[in-house]
Amino acid sequence: MLKIAVSNPRLADFLLGLPVVQRFFVADLRILAQLRSRHAREAVLERLVMANGVVKTTRFDRFADLDQRTLALFTGWTGPLRVHDVAVSSGTTALRLYLRLREKFESVDLSISDKFARFHLSPGWINAVYDCEGKLIHGYVFGVYADPRISWVFPLSRILFHWLRRRRPTQPAVTDAVLVYDTSVLQALDAGKIKEVSYDILRGAPLGSFDLVRAMNILHTGYFDRARLRTALDHIAATMNEGGVLLVGRSDQRSGINHASFLRKQGPRFVVIENVNNGSDLVTALPDRIISGVSR
Ligand SMILES: C[S@@+](CC[C@H](N)C(=O)[O-])C[C@H]1O[C@@H](n2cnc3c(N)ncnc32)[C@H](O)[C@@H]1O
Repeated sequence: MLKIAVSNPRLADFLLGLPVVQRFFVADLRILAQLRSRHAREAVLERLVMANGVVKTTRFDRFADLDQRTLALFTGWTGPLRVHDVAVSSGTTALRLYLRLREKFESVDLSISDKFARFHLSPGWINAVYDCEGKLIHGYVFGVYADPRISWVFPLSRILFHWLRRRRPTQPAVTDAVLVYDTSVLQALDAGKIKEVSYDILRGAPLGSFDLVRAMNILHTGYFDRARLRTALDHIAATMNEGGVLLVGRSDQRSGINHASFLRKQGPRFVVIENVNNGSDLVTALPDRIISGVSR
């Protein structure tokens, strides 16, 4: 069977909204910002699997419960609140958090980041899609979708990907970057309400000092191994104020339930101050870095 890449936004909105039929189509990455249907936009992000296997899956307002707890934790806070939302994918959850914080606090300085926010496509009828590391992740060959991980129900997509890889070895950007933040997030960035910072959680960066850092659906054992989790946690700790709060956890893809932990930075380590549902598995993965202070 064939999987077709649709480059007309209205047609993509329509086809990706049809049960069963949607399985045979994907939206071309370049029309992401023009898609009206949130479902279609989230489906595009779900298809973006990097060469190292990391994914960009997200859901609109998936952290409403956690946002309320975050607000409660900062009750009585005066002065500016410096926040970094790490690895935000489309960024819609970051924007929701920002709007909720702004209702309660006078001055909120929100920075967002995501290592894989920009993609590059080669022009013409044969489009190779590269991530920010210059790795080929998928493509469109005369409108047929090419993907190395797709089900074998679509053998041509797999064959075309391997053909693309041989034809166009890993190469740097050849077109302007496609930025995959949601349109609402791009508008907030343009308006200067929030700002984007460049941050690779595994490399770190001297970003300054945050009072609140959120790293949801990235710092867990299903995403990185323990060595990487330790490296990432140390990098984040270096960007936080003493007493600052770090929110880590994982959302259950089926139920949507968030299993998360709020950690407080105390000296070289973190202390668990609140678990939500089952809490974060980072706490048990890194006992040398995180003191499990509260019961689950
Ligand atoms: C599963 S998504 C989570 C998105 C959002 N935080 C949420 O929970 O809905 C993970 C995100 O981490 C980003 N990511 C992967 N590796 C990263 C790294 N080394 N540094 C920063 N971001 C990274 C991906 O691009 C992706 O958008």
